Amino acid sequence: MSSKGSMSSKGCILATGGAGYVGTHTVVELLNEGYDVVVVDNLANATMEGLKRIEEITGKRVPAYNVNLLDTEGLKNIFSENRITCVMHFAGFKAVGKSVDIPLQYYKNNIGGTVNLLEVMNEFKVYNMIFSSSATVYGVPEKLPFVETDKTGGCTNPYGKTKFFIEEIMKDLYTADQQWNIVMLRYFNPIGAHKSGRIGESPIGIPHNLMPYISKVAAGELEFLTVYGGDYETKDGTGVRDYTHVVDLAKGHVAALKSVKNKCGLKIYNLGTGKAYSVLEMVKAFEKASGKTVKYKIAPRRAGDLPTFWSDVSLAKKELGWEAEKDLDEMCEDIWRWQCMNPGGYPSGQSKST
Ligand code: UD1
Repeated sequence: MSSKGSMSSKGCILATGGAGYVGTHTVVELLNEGYDVVVVDNLANATMEGLKRIEEITGKRVPAYNVNLLDTEGLKNIFSENRITCVMHFAGFKAVGKSVDIPLQYYKNNIGGTVNLLEVMNEFKVYNMIFSSSATVYGVPEKLPFVETDKTGGCTNPYGKTKFFIEEIMKDLYTADQQWNIVMLRYFNPIGAHKSGRIGESPIGIPHNLMPYISKVAAGELEFLTVYGGDYETKDGTGVRDYTHVVDLAKGHVAALKSVKNKCGLKIYNLGTGKAYSVLEMVKAFEKASGKTVKYKIAPRRAGDLPTFWSDVSLAKKELGWEAEKDLDEMCEDIWRWQCMNPGGYPSGQSKST
């Protein structure tokens, strides 16, 4: 799983975690925009199948390396073999619950891997970085919607803390050396799938996130959705979020890349829609898109959940010229197509979810 990347005038992007959910969708958009892409992924929570399907969708080859970001020599080899111009850093463990059980693995993998990556980039004089951050860095809101200048930190689980700490590390790096161009993108609840139905979210085992769970209930793979909390102070008592189509997010990365190329320095953007839907509204929208009934039961709140959050997206619109285009119906239709075409997700070959 390794080969040399060809060069194009637009540049060669290294996508860490490029075989994962947001990674695969972004690699497709980058290839469609004429960038060369090289993927590094240790397949801890992904499969080669996603990469095969990227090649099928785009008709382009994606050189890929099965290397752990903690493997310094392996990383150096990638930078020696390819003239990387920018790194998009998607790789990281992301299961909130598991991060509570195995915090050291989360810190070592997410933070250790990132520091290693930044050191190798420094050595090879690649100073352009786009980082997959998360709305989780805001912690508990003092006011809504979240704007990029709001305070961060106070995250309630190790996963969230790794995103927050990495942001802090990158800020310190930029303070120390302003040759860097770093864009940190704070995602708001990525959902949806590629229109082709060939790539999408493929959680291993029982999904923890809402939409993969709902789609499996609609498909009859799971019996009912457990709605975590019906007594929040929200429009219908259930949790409210800003769900964003993963292809819109992917396009946000392409917009950020243009900004990096213009030597933007250090920038932070929310990538969301600015709209907020409750769990029950999501259930209704999915029933409409799928024509199926989604059975649900209201249960107690899930520890660590917030009642409501959504994004202010004006900064990304103003500075990147980016805004989400896909509405809730389209998000649900795309998930349903992916679910119907891939009932068990990608074929086997996946390893454990960490
Ligand atoms: C979760 C993570 C967040 C991460 C994001 C990535 C937690 C506490 N937070 O956000 O750090 O960045 O995923 O997408 O896990 N819900 C149900 N039943 C379910 C699943 C979810 O009612 O079976 C509800 C939740 O209570 C919440 C909403 O659906 O109100 C969305 O949940 P989820 O998809 O897990 O995302 P977040 O918790 O917002």
